[in-house]
Amino acid sequence: MKSNSIKRIAITTGGGDAPGLNAVIRASVVSAINRGWEVFGIREGYGGVLLPDEYPDGGLVPLTRGKVRGITHLGGTILGTSNKMNPLKFPMKQPDGSMKEVDRTDDVVRELKKLKIDGLIAIGGDGSLSIAREIGLKGINVVGVPKTIDNDLDKTVITFGFDTAVSFATACVDRLHSTAEAHQRVIVVEVMGRYAGWIALNTGISATADVILIPEIPYDMTKIAAKIEERYSRGAKFAMVVVAEGAKPKGGTHSVVSKEVGRAERLGGRGDTVAAEIEKATGKETRCVVLGHLLRGGTPTTFDRLISLRFGAAAVRALEEGHSGVMVALDPPMVRYVPLEEATSRMKTVPLDSDTVLTGRDLGISFGD
Ligand code: F6P
Repeated sequence: MKSNSIKRIAITTGGGDAPGLNAVIRASVVSAINRGWEVFGIREGYGGVLLPDEYPDGGLVPLTRGKVRGITHLGGTILGTSNKMNPLKFPMKQPDGSMKEVDRTDDVVRELKKLKIDGLIAIGGDGSLSIAREIGLKGINVVGVPKTIDNDLDKTVITFGFDTAVSFATACVDRLHSTAEAHQRVIVVEVMGRYAGWIALNTGISATADVILIPEIPYDMTKIAAKIEERYSRGAKFAMVVVAEGAKPKGGTHSVVSKEVGRAERLGGRGDTVAAEIEKATGKETRCVVLGHLLRGGTPTTFDRLISLRFGAAAVRALEEGHSGVMVALDPPMVRYVPLEEATSRMKTVPLDSDTVLTGRDLGISFGD
């Protein structure tokens, strides 16, 4: 294996934020400085290199020990992030006023080379890591770090941010139990997760929901209504339903709120639809609570902090050891390096035979199928 003589690296955080980003940044910065490297943070994804005029103080922030002191436990990202500036699908206004997606990865590579950046640590989900892969192919040493509350990245057992999202969602469903029982209501809780049901599944099982709806198992409303009726008839006169934002009825599609040029489509509204349909089918008073971005905020759990610190330090070791085009990945008990190509070639969804799904079924939880 070749070994790189790295001197200057840059760090970018792209896409939706996730708890643990700052811990990754701190671990990478301190590990790099301890090797005598200089570290810079690119502001707002790739905004700092693609739109330098927007950053009068500089699109790149020098990351010193002082800059990363006391940030391990903080949510968000000190660099800022964006899901509007994807260099692979950069939205550009055309002469006729319409918008078009343009590949600007050459611009990113040119700017990074101009700044004599030898290595890039790209912290992101599937979108950001696909960009990183392209940048790597164009001549910058790149190491990816798997971030997303959705846990939908392949080749890693878990992404950082997921544990915090599930822990918070579980605490919310726990709280909603008492109010549901007090009013004898059905409460539908919609959680994020895009096209994968990891958050809904893990939250629903942990918080002992009665029904869990995930994109991987299209639902049938008559089955959901039957489960709720059965529960009420046994004397438990309230019910909790956890719905992934990407859940869909049998033969139906995802509930999409909007799709803009240069951005991923936004999902939403499924919880409200399911709540209205349950009320109609069962006659039981039903409310919907959408947890949304609450799942992305706040302090990372200890698990997420630790895995973020491990990922950040491993990314620096990977660069030092001469790796490029790889993602650090949790393969317990180790953090390993896997090709970015493999990590981004397919979305990791919930396997229908996973023991977590089987556990739900053994506990009598309905998946609406
Ligand atoms: O990918 C993370 C995520 O929070 C998804 O779960 C959700 O669908 C999406 O981002 C929301 O994106 P935005 O922050 O653009 O509303």
